[in-house]
Amino acid sequence: MLLTKPSVCIFLFTCILRLGYTWSVNNFLMTGPKAYLIYSSSVAAGAQSGIEECKYQFAWDRWNCPERALQLSSHGGLRSANRETAFVHAISSAGVMYTLTRNCSLGDFDNCGCDDSRNGQLGGQGWLWGGCSDNVGFGEAISKQFVDALETGQDARAAMNLHNNEAGRKAVKGTMKRTCKCHGVSGSCTTQTCWLQLPEFREVGAHLKEKYHAALKVDLLQGAGNSAAGRGAIADTFRSISTRELVHLEDSPDYCLENKTLGLLGTEGRECLRRGRALGRWERRSCRRLCGDCGLAVEERRAETVSSCNCKFHWCCAVRCEQCRRRVTKYFCSRAERPRGGAAHKPGRKS
Ligand SMILES: *[C@@H]1O[C@H](CO)[C@@H](O)[C@H](O)[C@H]1NC(C)=O
Ligand SMILES: *[C@@H]1O[C@H](CO)[C@@H](O)[C@H](O)[C@H]1NC(C)=O
Repeated sequence: MLLTKPSVCIFLFTCILRLGYTWSVNNFLMTGPKAYLIYSSSVAAGAQSGIEECKYQFAWDRWNCPERALQLSSHGGLRSANRETAFVHAISSAGVMYTLTRNCSLGDFDNCGCDDSRNGQLGGQGWLWGGCSDNVGFGEAISKQFVDALETGQDARAAMNLHNNEAGRKAVKGTMKRTCKCHGVSGSCTTQTCWLQLPEFREVGAHLKEKYHAALKVDLLQGAGNSAAGRGAIADTFRSISTRELVHLEDSPDYCLENKTLGLLGTEGRECLRRGRALGRWERRSCRRLCGDCGLAVEERRAETVSSCNCKFHWCCAVRCEQCRRRVTKYFCSRAERPRGGAAHKPGRKS
């Protein structure tokens, strides 16, 4: 059954479902606009959470998941096919699948519940499937229908996007956690029942960030046109790559310099982190990555913050606080002065 839906912009920058978009309903007995309406808010919330996770994972990278990058749909405009495009597709697709699955477990949909298909079966040494596993099969199928339907082309870019959508869904499945409960006399664990649970979405994001760093480049842009032979070559190439891996067709710019034509913001003016707080290695090197490697200086800006502190409870019933002033130093990439050594802009490693 096919149904055609009008354009729906699921959030400000991305119209994921657009005019003439066709959704095929295979496995689910729900038909008509109702099926679409039931899931569309969940799909929208999922895509939004994917984008938020993208911004979190790339907060201290030169490319920081700007809105411009979030145009998932393929029609019109410039379509890049680089590593960052791959991540955007994977995390959006993962977000949609994750949210649909979570909604299902929370009982938000009438036609779906726990996955108990394996309950009662032996899962491994000393444990049985039981309880309420999150129904990723449901989330996977519905999200596939919504997200993959955006790719209407048959060229290498479309194949790349579909591959990365699938990698996003694989990431959700692959990070699920087995949770178990012991059974037996007074807490002894003679038998256990176990079920699969979704991880925190952050974990899916971190997993996909690793995949982003390891993304594979496929050489397909030239040659493989839209001929039947070209399409066959594209299909063969993608079939040979694991759907757990992200793929891209083009190299990324270094993201140092602003280029309005290409929608690149550059790193001038970006904040970076130096000391204080418990910083990880990636954050601690952010000033070098965002500023130094791009030929920009790091500018210190001092500010004072005022906040309530040393609050005491006075009987009865008042709380009195002092006003504490705290000096904070922030760091920004600036063109103000040349970095030491006066090195010109040098394309560094990938942001
Ligand atoms: C699914 O979950 C999201 C976020 O948790 C929520 O915003 C949305 O309303 C839920 N959808 C339904 C149909 O309950
Ligand atoms: C922006 O990129 C385009 C295409 O690569 C290039 O032709 C143009 O010179 C660039 N503009 C600036 C200001 O660097």
